[in-house]
Amino acid sequence: MSTIVGSKRPKADPINLPAVISAGKKVPPDAFNLLMQDHREVLELFRCYDLTTDPKARRAIAARICMDLKVHMEFEEELFYEAARDVLDDEDLVEDAEEEHDEAKAIVERLEERTTVDAAFTRDVHALKAAIEQHVTVEETELFPRLRQASLDSIALGVPLFVRRAELFAALTGKPLPGVAAPASQ
Ligand SMILES: [Fe+2]
Ligand SMILES: [Fe+2]
Repeated sequence: MSTIVGSKRPKADPINLPAVISAGKKVPPDAFNLLMQDHREVLELFRCYDLTTDPKARRAIAARICMDLKVHMEFEEELFYEAARDVLDDEDLVEDAEEEHDEAKAIVERLEERTTVDAAFTRDVHALKAAIEQHVTVEETELFPRLRQASLDSIALGVPLFVRRAELFAALTGKPLPGVAAPASQ
């Protein structure tokens, strides 16, 4: 018998969709869950950055943060924000979110150009963390509730978001998204 994952989970606890899919379980591909899972993962990476002083480890964690954010912001803008525009009559909310992305992208770019993991590098990581924490709060407490209220079909949107996320990750890293099995040949 197939398992419906998430039916008894609290709403604020996102499902780890890649892990669930690779485990072969049946899960509603909900866009909000996917985005919230990404948010939790990147916030955890910021926490990990501060748990080490090893420059190599810090660089590796910062590189992963930058990569994950680039993928997340891109598929959010391409698909999620576009869907938000269609169902909301508040263009300002989406424009503000895009401006916050631009701010984060500028810090990501600066970080990726830095050659030394020094105090300035860490200042940029912390500036990015503050910007992302603020942005995630706005998305999860303002944008998502408005979209739920406007009856955005987050299940229908979940699959294209998930696919685009995997495509972007593969394009940027040359590797498959961790936790996602290769599609069966047809
Ligand atoms: Fe987001
Ligand atoms: Fe965003």
